[in-house]
Amino acid sequence: MLDLTGKNALVTGIANNRSIAWGIAQQLHKAGANLGITYLSDDKGKMERKVFELVEPLNPSLFLPCNVQNETEIQSTFAEISSKWNKLDILIHCLAFANKDDLSGDFSQTSRSGFNTALEISTYSLIQLAGAAKPLMTEGGSIVTLTYLGGVRAIPNYNVMGVAKAGLEASVRYLASELGQQNIRVNAISAGPIRTLASSAVGGILDMIHHVEQVAPLRRTVTQTEVGNTAAFLCSDLSSGITGQVLYVDAGYEIMGM
Ligand SMILES: NC(=O)c1ccc[n+]([C@@H]2O[C@H](COP(=O)([O-])OP(=O)(O)OC[C@H]3O[C@@H](n4cnc5c(N)ncnc54)[C@H](O)[C@@H]3O)[C@@H](O)[C@H]2O)c1
Repeated sequence: MLDLTGKNALVTGIANNRSIAWGIAQQLHKAGANLGITYLSDDKGKMERKVFELVEPLNPSLFLPCNVQNETEIQSTFAEISSKWNKLDILIHCLAFANKDDLSGDFSQTSRSGFNTALEISTYSLIQLAGAAKPLMTEGGSIVTLTYLGGVRAIPNYNVMGVAKAGLEASVRYLASELGQQNIRVNAISAGPIRTLASSAVGGILDMIHHVEQVAPLRRTVTQTEVGNTAAFLCSDLSSGITGQVLYVDAGYEIMGM
């Protein structure tokens, strides 16, 4: 029943084979979606080569640089989608960034520029990409973003990223409320801690994972594939009545009081 054949899906946020976006791209491909992949380019083109080698087996029909701080790259990404695909069905927003200095120590010492950077890349980008996707989602669509428990609870060291995720989850509700009239659904997956490039910048990430393994009802954390499966569900007609929600894929950790 989970069939994404004929659906065009743009996946952002693949950096390497540990990326949650990589887990999502694989599951969307398995379900039959036609993929477009964006990456964050660097001066030497190292990231482009690395991500291209990784995603090649999934036969993406679009492969584009898209730094969400670069308006021109965003515009050309959606112009390419419009000319090559004509319509967009699925948008996966799976990216975040904060300076390492702002992911440990005293939250009260967060700098203005660190705050602005974290919120611009991790939160505003969802609004920006959803706004660009809206006119292309002519047959309805599904937008999925990634959040973390630190957006609703105080988690040691998560600091400014917790504020970014709180804003992201509120943005999911406002976007869902606006875009629902066009049958575009917007949801967030709140994933349990997974070792990735981004999470390794958060102070004490391994302790967080070990704590979850001891306390979560399933006595483990989750995998990129499990998050990918939930994303595929949220992008399919199986979830046609769900929008504006934060779905926890965290081995049950969120329900625990102690
Ligand atoms: N790993 C976890 O424990 C965990 C848990 C819950 C939620 N999340 C969220 O999942 C998402 C993906 O993170 P991940 O853990 O897979 O790490 P990751 O490092 O693999 O992915 C982060 C991605 O963000 C991209 N990025 C950073 N700045 C960018 C910019 N300016 N423009 C475009 N892309 C940019 C990076 O290139 C990278 O691909 C993030 O939103 C993260 O907060 C992660």
